[in-house]
Amino acid sequence: MKKKPTTLHLADLPGGPPKGTLLVELHEIADHGGKSVLFHDGDRRISLLVQIRGDKAFIYENSCPHAGTPLNLFGEKFLTIDGSYLICRTHGAQFTLEEGRCILGPCKGDYLRPVAFEEKEGALYSA
Ligand code: FES
Repeated sequence: MKKKPTTLHLADLPGGPPKGTLLVELHEIADHGGKSVLFHDGDRRISLLVQIRGDKAFIYENSCPHAGTPLNLFGEKFLTIDGSYLICRTHGAQFTLEEGRCILGPCKGDYLRPVAFEEKEGALYSA
């Protein structure tokens, strides 16, 4: 089993947004809905995925540990059809929502990298 990655603090990245940057307003996302969030700094791209389930939000770096592609190849869908797991559209790896651990597919045992955030007044901000 691979080691769980450390939580990514966006402000620590070169060109990353400072702590407290608005990532997404929750009213933009339906229950069980997802949203991709992109930051640009010159040529550098920082891609995140935000997934809501019930009253919980989860944010991961939108990069599959198998081949580095975004989990969603198009649209804002990140979950399997039954809503149980995050799924990578490239080769079908499935990840737990709570830990980002791959339980099925070519990177089984590996993890998505969690992103630090805080929820405040109906929105998610970088932490
Ligand atoms: S790139 Fe995600 S499963 Fe291969």
